[in-house]
Amino acid sequence: MSLAPKQLIDFPRAVPDSAGIPQSVRDEMLIAPFNDADFSQSLIDQHGDKIAAIIVEPLQRIVPPAPGFLEMLREQCDKHGIVLIFDEVVTGFRFSYGGAQQFYGVTPDLCTLGKVIGGGLPAAAVVGRGDIMAHFDKSKVGEEGFLMQLGTLSGNPVAAVAGLKTLEILRRPGAYEKLMANGQAVMDSFSSHLTELGHAHEIVGHPTLFDVIFIGHKVENYRDVISADTAKNALFNKALRQHGIFKSPGKTYAGLALTEEDLRQTDKAIAAAAQEI
Ligand SMILES: Cc1ncc(COP(=O)(O)O)c(C=O)c1O
Repeated sequence: MSLAPKQLIDFPRAVPDSAGIPQSVRDEMLIAPFNDADFSQSLIDQHGDKIAAIIVEPLQRIVPPAPGFLEMLREQCDKHGIVLIFDEVVTGFRFSYGGAQQFYGVTPDLCTLGKVIGGGLPAAAVVGRGDIMAHFDKSKVGEEGFLMQLGTLSGNPVAAVAGLKTLEILRRPGAYEKLMANGQAVMDSFSSHLTELGHAHEIVGHPTLFDVIFIGHKVENYRDVISADTAKNALFNKALRQHGIFKSPGKTYAGLALTEEDLRQTDKAIAAAAQEI
């Protein structure tokens, strides 16, 4: 619900992103705009006792949290006994070895991880507070509180080995510095060539995960992102492809495998694409 809604109805109503979602699901959810602390606060004031959990990406798609936003959620969840869940499927292990939660200094009660945790193979994890995780263990919570968790790929040894190796590589000295430097180099290329040619734009995100948005003002949430000049973005991405750089339409992720030569080629392609749009 409301992951990437095309229809922008008033908050806090949820919009289904897919067919087949029962109305009852929508009725169980409240949606708040990311980074709007006052709006979230007013929803919590109004419904605090009935809210089971707040789920948020600590950096939402590409938009970083405004100072104090995640802290406010943490504080309110503690005050009202609400479970704070960070979806770190995308952010996990990118900004620091302890995830976005370590990077921003706000610890959720539960956290979801995917992608990098399996080193690119199918693996995902739910991690969190011991008393909540105990619900996966019948011997701790009894029949009533037990939550069954199993699946074809649960404990998949091949994905586990790939994930462990990835984590070992990330722990090597200098890994995060290199990841950041690679991302920063690409960010700088976008910024300098687009600025030089007078294209109004914002580079939104973190050096390890960001995108270029063709817009004339600061981007604070999803609605800002979709109000940007997406046709220009598509043109730009196409021009980059024609110069040998495949940039995802969603966002750019920095990788450790990039070489100086890759960065030079990327810079040249960005310079050429900026000329062509
Ligand atoms: C923020 C976020 N959460 C969750 C998911 C879903 O993860 P999975 O494919 O492991 O179910 C995605 C998928 O891209 C995602 O971007």
